[in-house]
Amino acid sequence: MAIKTVAVIGASGNIGAPIVKSLLEAGFKVTAITRESSTSTFPEGVEVRKTDLASIESVTKAFAGQDAVISTIASAEIGNQNIFADAAIAAGVKRYIPSEFGHNSRPGKLQGPAAALLAGKTKAVDYLIEQAKTHPEFTWTGVSTSPFFDWGLDMGVFGIDFKNKTARIFDSGNQPASACTLAFVGEATVAVLQHEEETANKYIEVAEFQVTQNQIIAILEEESGAKFTVSREKTSDLARIGLEKISRGEYHASFLDILQSITFVDGAPYAIPDDVLANKTLGLQSRDLRDVLKDYVKSRSS
Ligand SMILES: NC(=O)c1ccc[n+]([C@@H]2O[C@H](COP(=O)([O-])OP(=O)(O)OC[C@H]3O[C@@H](n4cnc5c(N)ncnc54)[C@H](OP(=O)(O)O)[C@@H]3O)[C@@H](O)[C@H]2O)c1
Repeated sequence: MAIKTVAVIGASGNIGAPIVKSLLEAGFKVTAITRESSTSTFPEGVEVRKTDLASIESVTKAFAGQDAVISTIASAEIGNQNIFADAAIAAGVKRYIPSEFGHNSRPGKLQGPAAALLAGKTKAVDYLIEQAKTHPEFTWTGVSTSPFFDWGLDMGVFGIDFKNKTARIFDSGNQPASACTLAFVGEATVAVLQHEEETANKYIEVAEFQVTQNQIIAILEEESGAKFTVSREKTSDLARIGLEKISRGEYHASFLDILQSITFVDGAPYAIPDDVLANKTLGLQSRDLRDVLKDYVKSRSS
């Protein structure tokens, strides 16, 4: 029987909200699982279940009647997701998608200190692999998306500040990296649920396009008519700064430096080849990079 009911944990978040939008557009019945303390709001048509996310009883009750559960819980909580898998199994959920939605977190795929920073994700998927072996009715899918493109531009992930027309170019600026717009991640997550059999118990990668920093700056300059002030930084310096922050216990603050140092270092392995991507299996359509940036310039200029 096809998946019809879907619960989303973290449904108001950076990626939770676009996923909910895509689920509603595709006709799924959506339930938001929120913390008891949460003040998050949700679109019309979304049922809200306030839940004690640390209580297996509370989470199992919240998952009742759900065919699928998607965790888009905040990064701070990625190490605390086993309870969602246990509750999903107890509630008879057929498909569980953990809070991945970034660089591939499987062993050996994350470079340098990123592996330690994202160890919670790796362990969460390890746990799912084990649970699926003994609960054949329970399945999972890990969805790796590379950096979010539009969100990442706003947050400085790509080293670009469109408002102030400045750019920090890391190493040569010519290193391609895969990326996905938030809308594409929403569509990809829906497509996973619509391709239940092909995605069961698999860790998949999707990406909308590959970009380099220099390419983004050139298009933004052309589309906005503005010239960016460019500075240059070495990814080795970013890695050093990130590690210094980690040594001071500033894990959250270190993340951007580490992410940029591994993603944009010349020769980085984060431009995912087409034959590795699940885009084709899922029937995903990528938007043209220039069209995405045209919309970005328009929306951030008003
Ligand atoms: N690829 C990328 O570029 C990229 C970028 C950002 C995030 N990500 C990944 O996407 C996933 C979701 O991240 P996100 O940025 O979308 O999450 P977020 O917006 O920071 O948080 C999502 C939701 O988690 C819930 N939550 C539960 N416990 C929380 C806590 N202790 N602190 C804060 N929120 C808590 C909140 O929902 P309620 O209030 O409803 O309970 C919150 O709205 C993570 O795995 C993250 O690593 C990837």
